[in-house]
Amino acid sequence: APSDEEIRTLVAPLTGLEGPLLPMLHAVQDAYGCIPDAALQVLADLLNLGRAEVHGVVSFYHDFRKVPAGRHILRICRAEACQSMGGAALADATLDRLGIGWHDTTANGAVTVEPVYCLGMCACAPAAMLDDRVVARLDDARMNRLLDEAGA
Ligand code: FES
Repeated sequence: APSDEEIRTLVAPLTGLEGPLLPMLHAVQDAYGCIPDAALQVLADLLNLGRAEVHGVVSFYHDFRKVPAGRHILRICRAEACQSMGGAALADATLDRLGIGWHDTTANGAVTVEPVYCLGMCACAPAAMLDDRVVARLDDARMNRLLDEAGA
């Protein structure tokens, strides 16, 4: 885990920004893959905020992680067109197979599953994204192939 000093050095240049907290959190997550506990106090001290306040912001935005994400991120669309084409059942089956919940990572560190709200592929629903690749017209078999490919 990074030291307080390391974190302070990383985010100090952002102190002068208007609304520096979010940019600082993004810088921390970019550097460490997550928001380490130590960062809460360091940022709170730098910005004259309470640690609970910083923690509240981190919890509010699902983009910020408490632990680093897996090697691959699978984003499953949960918006309406995909839901109406079996997206909910597909998501349930996927999470079941992996034995995890939303925002979690498989035990082998291969895949983190996140919800996403429309990938612009509504006509080819249900859709998902594995890392940078959008995959549409998904069914259980295609999803299983994706998961195998990702090493889940
Ligand atoms: Fe899923 Fe648009 S609703 S891609």
